[in-house]
Amino acid sequence: MITIKTRLNGPYLVSGDLSELTLIDADGNPYDLTGKPNIALCRCGGSMTKPFCDATHSTIGFQAAESAVRAEEAQAQK
Ligand code: FES
Repeated sequence: MITIKTRLNGPYLVSGDLSELTLIDADGNPYDLTGKPNIALCRCGGSMTKPFCDATHSTIGFQAAESAVRAEEAQAQK
């Protein structure tokens, strides 16, 4: 089984048996995921190594949408 988990204000963490996963670029070429126990896919748009996360999210103050919704809900309850 492959699991994709959103990290708080960070990437999508893909874990599980990655031999079952094929990640393909825009030209149809597969990425070599051999030997990787998991991968992190950028969702902030700032990575220089897309589609993989390079931790840029932590330096640009990326706020994931679900966090923003939670913040709005918290604000509405005040
Ligand atoms: S989510 Fe980590 S660099 Fe974009």
